[in-house]
Amino acid sequence: MDYKQLIADSINIDGIDKSEILELIAAPKDINMGDLCIPCFKLAKQMKKSPVVIAEEIAASVVKSDMIESVSAVAGFVNFKFDNAKFAALTLDKVLNEGENYGKSKEGEGKTVCIDYSSVNIAKPFHMGHLLNTALGGAIYRIYSALGYNVVGINHLGDWGTQFGKLIVAYKLWGNKQEIDKRGVRALVEIYVRFHKEEEKNPSLGDEARAWFKAIEQGDKEALQLFEYFKEITLKEVNRIYDRLHIKFDSYAGESFYNDKMQPVLDELTAKGILQESEGAKVVKFDGDTMPPCLLQRSDGATLYATRDMAAAFYRKNTYDFYKCLYVVAYQQNLHFQQVFKVLDIMGCDWAKDMIHVAHGMVSLESGAMSTREGNVVFLEDVLNTVVAKAKKVIEEKNPNLENKDTVAEQIGVGATVFGVLYSNRIKDMVFSIDKVLNFEGETGPYVQYTYARCNSLFDKCGDVGTDVDFSGLDNSACKAVVAILDKYPQILKESAKKFEPSVVTRYAIDLAQSFNKFYFECKISTEREGIKNSRLLLTKATRQVLGNALALLGIETPQKM
Ligand code: ARG
Repeated sequence: MDYKQLIADSINIDGIDKSEILELIAAPKDINMGDLCIPCFKLAKQMKKSPVVIAEEIAASVVKSDMIESVSAVAGFVNFKFDNAKFAALTLDKVLNEGENYGKSKEGEGKTVCIDYSSVNIAKPFHMGHLLNTALGGAIYRIYSALGYNVVGINHLGDWGTQFGKLIVAYKLWGNKQEIDKRGVRALVEIYVRFHKEEEKNPSLGDEARAWFKAIEQGDKEALQLFEYFKEITLKEVNRIYDRLHIKFDSYAGESFYNDKMQPVLDELTAKGILQESEGAKVVKFDGDTMPPCLLQRSDGATLYATRDMAAAFYRKNTYDFYKCLYVVAYQQNLHFQQVFKVLDIMGCDWAKDMIHVAHGMVSLESGAMSTREGNVVFLEDVLNTVVAKAKKVIEEKNPNLENKDTVAEQIGVGATVFGVLYSNRIKDMVFSIDKVLNFEGETGPYVQYTYARCNSLFDKCGDVGTDVDFSGLDNSACKAVVAILDKYPQILKESAKKFEPSVVTRYAIDLAQSFNKFYFECKISTEREGIKNSRLLLTKATRQVLGNALALLGIETPQKM
């Protein structure tokens, strides 16, 4: 329920409209004054009256409803007190009735949102930098699904480019299938690096590589087979990580998928007189030099990353008729997306405005946190394994008798990692600290998971909620705070969707967990009389539900015990 709206709706006074009132409503400095208040000072000028008089007039005009317990005018403020027991009863009832569906809505019904995310490069390491991207995309995917949108997750694979010619040469010279099958991308990266070293001494390798790339382009059987093999090796590895992160895609149409779909776009650009020759290459120039030209074809006829994205944009619009098409990609590619979107706009695609670059910052690992033999690249899988191993150690120390220790360690470790990267605003660069994200007392995933498990343990101790419920047990500031946060959850979902910002959800989960823990330490539960105890157990049950719902949106599991 929206208390602010309730207040605005209850006021009837000439010369002020509801939207003005809504903007003024605030929390009182002193909570003893009430739950919300309207400071009337800003109204003085337009109403030509003193704030004190205005407050009195507003207070007198309020149409009482059973949710408003009292209204009073004090020194230019109108203070409202609500019937908190009743509000709590309504809120908890709603949460528990709706269960897993609490927070969901149908606002997106009939609308399709495409999300391009993770978009890995074949035969390249899946490293720390991809973690934030993948976690963000996965969370945005689930958040939009929860709001009723039809969501299409797209992994725009980086599976095209001259590097595949090089890789074939390297493979034929030094590749060992058995080893690659076993060690995967690491082994591919090794021979690729070796290629570059050897090419310095022996430039003819470069010619061979170009020839092999041409063979791929022309559909040569052997070349394609090897190309598919590299893809298979990479995807096998990446899918292992996606499974652990609970990430899924509806399409793996990558760059190579658009090989035969670029020419029509280039033709249309030419026909519309938008494509220009520049030193043999084809480019789109922008008015007033607002941006560097967008290069769409090299002088040798080769297409580029941007050409593929142009073709992909049309393909997505035609295939999915999207309402929005999101690109979750690091801010390094700001210019690229600005150019592509602008070219679409110049072409007259009115849907160019629905293309959104959801930019994010960089993630680096605390120096010295992990050693790696591959130079600076830290494989994400190694990070996950390290965090999970540390989580297991914590469990061994704190709760050695816990059942399913390995499963729980995986849930905590992966949860800590995902929650950790989703905790800051997405645009911020961050340094990932394993100890920090695993800190059970910090603003972390494990802290939220632990709070969830704490709710469970209360039920182990007290049994399920009885039928005799006295909601006056919730009429204290600690309980009121929890109820107010529970009530806000549906709004939180909408806000995070609107901003493409899962950190709204992670922060909310911390807020809820912290306020629940405050209640847990301040209020007696098991030793209270039946009616009071039951009201507090209901609060616990609703908190557990909403913590679980929020974590599920982030792709984080909830161990029953920790
Ligand atoms: N593979 C690209 C990279 O790693 C990201 C692709 C993003 N998606 C797109 N449609 N351009 O940089």
